[in-house]
Amino acid sequence: MERWNGRVALVTGASSGIGAALCQSLVQHGMKVVGCSRNVDRIKALADEDAVKKASGELMAVKCDLTKESDILSMFDEICRTFGRLDICINNAGIGHDAPLLSGKTADFKDMLDVNILGLTICTREAVKLMREKAVNDGQIIHISSIGGHFLPTQGWLETNFYCATKFMVRALTAGLRKELKELKTQIRIASVSPGLVQTGFFENCLNENSSMKASDISLFQSLQPKDVAESVLYILSTPQHVEVHDIIVSPYSC
Ligand SMILES: NC(=O)c1ccc[n+]([C@@H]2O[C@H](COP(=O)([O-])OP(=O)(O)OC[C@H]3O[C@@H](n4cnc5c(N)ncnc54)[C@H](OP(=O)(O)O)[C@@H]3O)[C@@H](O)[C@H]2O)c1
Repeated sequence: MERWNGRVALVTGASSGIGAALCQSLVQHGMKVVGCSRNVDRIKALADEDAVKKASGELMAVKCDLTKESDILSMFDEICRTFGRLDICINNAGIGHDAPLLSGKTADFKDMLDVNILGLTICTREAVKLMREKAVNDGQIIHISSIGGHFLPTQGWLETNFYCATKFMVRALTAGLRKELKELKTQIRIASVSPGLVQTGFFENCLNENSSMKASDISLFQSLQPKDVAESVLYILSTPQHVEVHDIIVSPYSC
């Protein structure tokens, strides 16, 4: 991890769950981290926690609604003005809705596409553009995908088929970006992490008045901790330049 000391990382969806754990880990490795989300006060509160304040890196909070391209472009301008470069972009922000394909709301489908696909794609495009402008040839893009981008869950406790479809698309976007980066002959790398259930507020936020499960049911399932996913990201960042991690599937161990 030494080569990342003092370098600049963007983490989207930094206000809670996996994104907050990623910010903590990266500042502890001496990185200048830009954390973004809509609830920017939560990121400011995270930056005020002892574990972050005492770390050798720093955390800057930026308000950004990833469904608005203008917010994303302003954020990249701010990163460029403040730090003059970007070395790592972790597309972590994501949203799910309990929305069956045959009866879900169009607004819910659109919301998932806007955040999980368009927000991720625009951030990636702008990140690679800034890396190339600043001659960062060893940058790293990481998409936080899901095990649901590999297999559709067989349990019917939440109707996540559309959410999973967005994560299947993240897998295609990862492979497509790898191909485009190679065509450019840059050594910027792209990897994804595909977690199983993680103990965050994510699935509670998916529920709506038509959901057949309650928030309290979620705790019955075995799950990873957000820092387990952060460890997978640290593994990707710690590999030497001749190694390219494509995807890490990480799930809770069950007998
Ligand atoms: N939890 C799981 O079991 C699990 C499993 C596999 C994959 N994942 C993936 O892991 C990633 C992180 O999820 P999590 O579990 O940490 O959930 P979480 O705690 O709900 O975090 C989601 C983050 O996304 C941000 N976000 C949502 N909509 C946004 C928008 N329009 N603009 C900017 N930021 C937005 C939220 O911030 P604001 O609301 O403040 O904007 C929040 O920081 C997601 O991509 C998710 O699909 C989660």
